[in-house]
Amino acid sequence: MVTAYTHEPFTDFTKEENKRAFQEALAHVNTELGQEYPLVINGEKIISSVKVQSINPAKKAEIIGTVSMADKQLAEQAMQAALTAFETWKTTDAAYRANILFRSAAIIRRRKHEFSSWLVKEAGKPWREADADTAEAIDFLEYYARQMLELKNGAPVNSRSGEQNVFNYIPLGVGIVISPFNFPLAIMAGTVVAALVTGNTVLLKPAETAPVVAAKFVEVMEEAGLPAGVLNYIPGRGAEIGDYLVEHPKTRFVSFTGSRAVGCRIYERAAKVQEGQIWLKRIIAEMGGKDTVLVDRDTNLDLAASSIVYSAFGFSGQKCSAGSRAVIHQDVYDVVLEKVVELTETLFVGSPERADTYMGPVIDEKAYKKIMDYIEIGKEEGRLMTGGSGNDENGYFIQPTIFADVKENDRLMQEEIFGPVVAICKATDFDHMMAIANNTDYGLTGALISNNRDYIDRARKEFHVGNLYINRGCTGAIVGYQPFGGFNMSGTDSKAGSPDYLLLHMQGQTTSEAF
Ligand code: NAD
Ligand code: ALA
Repeated sequence: MVTAYTHEPFTDFTKEENKRAFQEALAHVNTELGQEYPLVINGEKIISSVKVQSINPAKKAEIIGTVSMADKQLAEQAMQAALTAFETWKTTDAAYRANILFRSAAIIRRRKHEFSSWLVKEAGKPWREADADTAEAIDFLEYYARQMLELKNGAPVNSRSGEQNVFNYIPLGVGIVISPFNFPLAIMAGTVVAALVTGNTVLLKPAETAPVVAAKFVEVMEEAGLPAGVLNYIPGRGAEIGDYLVEHPKTRFVSFTGSRAVGCRIYERAAKVQEGQIWLKRIIAEMGGKDTVLVDRDTNLDLAASSIVYSAFGFSGQKCSAGSRAVIHQDVYDVVLEKVVELTETLFVGSPERADTYMGPVIDEKAYKKIMDYIEIGKEEGRLMTGGSGNDENGYFIQPTIFADVKENDRLMQEEIFGPVVAICKATDFDHMMAIANNTDYGLTGALISNNRDYIDRARKEFHVGNLYINRGCTGAIVGYQPFGGFNMSGTDSKAGSPDYLLLHMQGQTTSEAF
């Protein structure tokens, strides 16, 4: 019997002892910087000739680790290891696999601040964001282990007299897990363990900018008893080994989280049946968002302002769930705008190693340039209210930026910026608000701030997003409480942290015996 699932609590950093413990963990991680991280193929640590340095986005001169990169040959070696391991892993008892997840959760929980410190260092996450990322990783392990125990005997079906019918779930095969930089622990771990606990073997290709925290996670899985070859760690260039593995005839499924452009590319390439391929590949693709916070006139205006600000600027706006556009009813537009600007100007932007930092850097130079370009576009399309500047001298810092009076079809209202920039648009009435909310190719998250019961009910029916939040911000879904994933160009409609999610990694098999 396992205990009921509850989510991992967040750390209260107002408590001195917690603050001190986190500072100690950061100091410890500082002593471990700059190490070498090999590939892990069939349990063997392989140092390759091509390596990348993972750097601290807040302090460019600081090297987090040097990571070996896989080329096509090493990717093929990993594929062969995963194919071999699948033959035994697929027959292991589901409870045995679930126990490995429970043990991994316990190990990470014991080293929680250490993992969060790696996230501070490698991804530039402020303490609270790093702590939430680590908690979510623990949640995925705890939740999917329990889900597998629920599914291990399949689902009940009827049998007539003289027959016995059984309906079971069996694994798919070798899965390629491709993860993004923005939840380099939680999403990476969640997508990996969902595939593993269901009996598949995995090739993990983490984001180029955050491979070290993934290497640390792979070490934990090994310590928890995962056999060699079941999880293979192969950092590499997306365009090189990503394409190779997506097109590989032995790839059974791809679990991707990242941008729309890459997701669409994978979807298209995986659809082509290759020579020697005897199945249609299954694709789970979780992609971008252009998420909206709607503010009605009949509402708590302070709640509206804080919902806009924290949804827009948490982790420098680098969340697929970020509220990167706000639509405000014309009757309260000026007053809400003023509150939003006022609150934004209180946010401290600086080193994520400081306890009081609200916003750290963006992930790398490419992101910095892209976001700064969007700020220039914003100056043409809207009215700059605050922010608008950046500094990439030592790290990639951009001030939280607000553009008002942006029109509903402007680029700032339509394109995913993935940075600390929010576009604010005025609406004439609730119908207009709802039309703007749905005027996007995406459909990931959205929020409505309103006291009007009719409008709340209408939003439930009309706001076409995978995660709809009423009277709160649009980020921060919790595993097993608010299953997460979007519609339309936000992905393949899967829901991470939901009772359905593991089924995407399995196939149903019916056995009928006559007697
Ligand atoms: P990205 O698409 O640039 O990279 C994601 C992963 O894809 C990386 O590991 C990258 O190396 C790999 N990749 C790149 N080219 C590839 C190719 N040709 N074949 C295979 N893999 C390839 O995304 P990112 O910048 O790391 O993350 C940000 C994006 O992810 C945003 O668009 C965000 O909205 C999205 N995201 C979505 C969700 C969700 O649940 N919907 C969650 C987090 C992030
Ligand atoms: N699951 C993350 C959130 O809800 C992306 O913000």
